[in-house]
Amino acid sequence: MSVTVRVPAKVNVQLAVGAARPDGFHDLANVFLAVGLYDEITVTPADALRVTCEGPDAHQVPLDESNLAARAALALAGRYGRRADVHLHIAKDIPVAGGMAGGSADGAGALLACDALWGTGASREELLEICAELGSDVPFSLVGGAALGVGRGERLTVLEVGGTFHWVFAMAGRGLSTPAVFREFDRLTEGLDVPEPVASPELLRALAKGDPDALAAAVSNDLQPAALSLFPELAGTLAAGRDAGALAALVSGSGPTTAFLARDPGSAEKIADALRASGTCRTVRTAQAPTEGATIVR
Ligand code: C5P
Repeated sequence: MSVTVRVPAKVNVQLAVGAARPDGFHDLANVFLAVGLYDEITVTPADALRVTCEGPDAHQVPLDESNLAARAALALAGRYGRRADVHLHIAKDIPVAGGMAGGSADGAGALLACDALWGTGASREELLEICAELGSDVPFSLVGGAALGVGRGERLTVLEVGGTFHWVFAMAGRGLSTPAVFREFDRLTEGLDVPEPVASPELLRALAKGDPDALAAAVSNDLQPAALSLFPELAGTLAAGRDAGALAALVSGSGPTTAFLARDPGSAEKIADALRASGTCRTVRTAQAPTEGATIVR
């Protein structure tokens, strides 16, 4: 018997970052959209905890207990006083270390899959609590759709979205470490008065209306200067997408994946072709948003 869960990637249409807190984390106003690129996590009973991974980036995925999928299984097993003797297999399509919450997706997916396999009867609140312990972006991977995350980004309010948005994502030739990007943010803002992060009312209105032009005018990412500082070549990718007609071009989360908002599917294909031809990125994908969160598929 096994359970398979499908989990989406995310893009942040707003990532407002406050000053570093005493615990080293940053308060955020983080508007997440779940996008239609997915990892699938399959859990099967086994003699001991084991993680395997397939996909183009599989060699970059840690298979030990630092993997969020393994940590999720251990956390749930710990709570219910059982052993996490399972084989977790990750079919990975979300870029690794890309700023699209691929690791978080695997954590949320493994949690939901183990919960179903073991029949723990955990409530949604309990699962969300474990997600928040695993990482700031993990609760959103479980919930999907669109949400505002505050605190570390883990305290979610679900947002209504009035339509489908068409996106193009350009994956870079190497990853970026999220802690390193936050450290660079701290360095770049040293001595400056960093305002409290707040969600943009224009952006929330644009999402509610499903209006791509209004959304494009309102997107922002306070981590973008830090990501560009550590990975200057991303500026060329952003320019190539803008030149091809993207309504907005931004770094996804802590990067280095870049995200391009298109008016419609045809325009998304054109932007994708131009990005492929530009030679400024490794792979290019189109995807729609929002999409549902972690879902049991079989
Ligand atoms: O919560 P998560 O483990 O995903 O965070 C990874 C790293 O990103 C943290 O160790 C921290 O350096 C940084 N971070 C932060 N503020 C947040 C979220 C993450 O500084 N709100």
